[in-house]
Amino acid sequence: MSDLFVARSLEEIRFWSRIMKEHSLFLRLGFRCEDTQLIHEANHFYAIFEEIERKSHAFQTNADPQTIKQFNVEVYTAASHIWAFKRKVLGLILSCQLPGANNFPLLVDHVSREANYFRNRLAELNAGRLEPLPDAIIDENVFFLKIMADHAKFIGHLLDPSERKLVDQARNFSHDFDQLVFQAIDLSSMRPQSQTVPLLSQFVDQNKVSVKSLRDFKKTARDLINDCRIKSIIHPLLADHVFREAEHFLVILDMFEHFLQGPKRSES
Ligand SMILES: [Fe+2]
Ligand SMILES: [Fe+2]
Repeated sequence: MSDLFVARSLEEIRFWSRIMKEHSLFLRLGFRCEDTQLIHEANHFYAIFEEIERKSHAFQTNADPQTIKQFNVEVYTAASHIWAFKRKVLGLILSCQLPGANNFPLLVDHVSREANYFRNRLAELNAGRLEPLPDAIIDENVFFLKIMADHAKFIGHLLDPSERKLVDQARNFSHDFDQLVFQAIDLSSMRPQSQTVPLLSQFVDQNKVSVKSLRDFKKTARDLINDCRIKSIIHPLLADHVFREAEHFLVILDMFEHFLQGPKRSES
């Protein structure tokens, strides 16, 4: 049980600390030259999460659970601070105090939601109580489907408008994922009666099909951007970042699928 706690804590921190580090970079790139204080703060968070990432890779899975529990607390604090920074930036943008800066409000809100998610995962791990599976299935899907819908919108808006075909594709993904978000919210509102194995299985299967196709689209976009074959203002690292987040969601969906199949069916 302790080994599992250590393994899961390290997995979460390795994935999300790199994500938080990259958010710091994306935010910094979107500030104006004169926003020196904000640039300084973003660089500060970059260094913090780079160090957390380094430490998380230095720990082995046989590390002392008490040490990892302490590490989780430390990372929780860092995630809380970057969350507060992101919300502060959102406030500045929405009150028109950063005219001409290049971060969309939805993007800043989005990265703050990811920080909040990370922080909650750490709190859950340390409290040793995970949500009951049927609730986790719905809540994780509501969270990640919205994340995926946002990604499609960012890609659509950061591609050059002359890339008409790709912009159309991104817009279609945005629409599909908005529909999936609403479906997930409907299923959530029908709780607990909606939490039957057949309904949850169908929900997970259907979402998986859409996430796979979005993941493939992101992979194509990432490769095209890397090879400088399309016109956009998407940073290559951002293209890879959203691809990795789709992969992460697919791992979670696979895990749910596995649990829902139960021990009997998974043997076949
Ligand atoms: Fe992200
Ligand atoms: Fe994201």
